[in-house]
Amino acid sequence: MHQEQRDLVDQVITSRHSVRAFSSTPVETQLIKDILTVASRAPSGNNIQPWKVYVVTGQKREELIHQVCQAQIELFNHPELAHNYQETFKYYPEQWTSPFIERRRENGWGLYGLLNIQKGEQKKMQMQHLRNYQLFDAPVGLFFTLNKTLATGSKMDISMMIQNVMIAAKARGLDTCPQAAWNPFYPIIFDILNIPDDEELVCAIALGYADLTQIVNSFHTSRVPVEDFALFYE
Ligand SMILES: Cc1cc2nc3c(=O)[nH]c(=O)nc-3n(C[C@H](O)[C@H](O)[C@H](O)COP(=O)(O)O)c2cc1C
Repeated sequence: MHQEQRDLVDQVITSRHSVRAFSSTPVETQLIKDILTVASRAPSGNNIQPWKVYVVTGQKREELIHQVCQAQIELFNHPELAHNYQETFKYYPEQWTSPFIERRRENGWGLYGLLNIQKGEQKKMQMQHLRNYQLFDAPVGLFFTLNKTLATGSKMDISMMIQNVMIAAKARGLDTCPQAAWNPFYPIIFDILNIPDDEELVCAIALGYADLTQIVNSFHTSRVPVEDFALFYE
């Protein structure tokens, strides 16, 4: 691969970041198909290609947003209803430990700080959380599922495919936000999209064109240096 091409690949990977405000500009269906076609070159154990993707736009998107926002608002007011909305696998640990808890805090407060949300401002935090269920206004929602008979390894396969989607989208001038926030609301989502019971929701992606006028999109996260996470042996 020539240096120019390598630089381009690096640039697409490093310029991807989670966008949390999108413009209403629609995304052509053919463009979404192209992105999914490229993304499906992801590797998977024994090439089983376990992923399924539900592409949601237009009226269905409206319906989904309406119903899930209603459910989330009800949950804000009645936290005891949480048992109705349980994700099928734990994305986060029950007990946070160092250094993950510090990184998580840095991320959360970095984002809230930018949005002028201070500690204890519960209402503002809830409103920001609710933005997840409006897809941050993105015109496209992608919902990724796996068949429940598959093992944990398939979550690796689908994650590689999901990253490919985000990179292929970025290369086409589109932006994304991966979203685990939708997972607990899978009963509503499955009902609206007629997703069979033998599938589980792994993650969603908000897809669209970034609204660059929104301050939330100036949020860029840090990474620990290679020396802190890689050990080299000779
Ligand atoms: C699987 C997964 C689920 C995520 N879920 C959410 C989410 O529900 N809402 C959100 O605002 N960001 C979500 N994020 C985005 C992360 O907060 C973000 O990737 C991280 O802070 C690093 O920032 P960057 O993506 O801008 O590089 C998720 C990321 C991943 C990989």
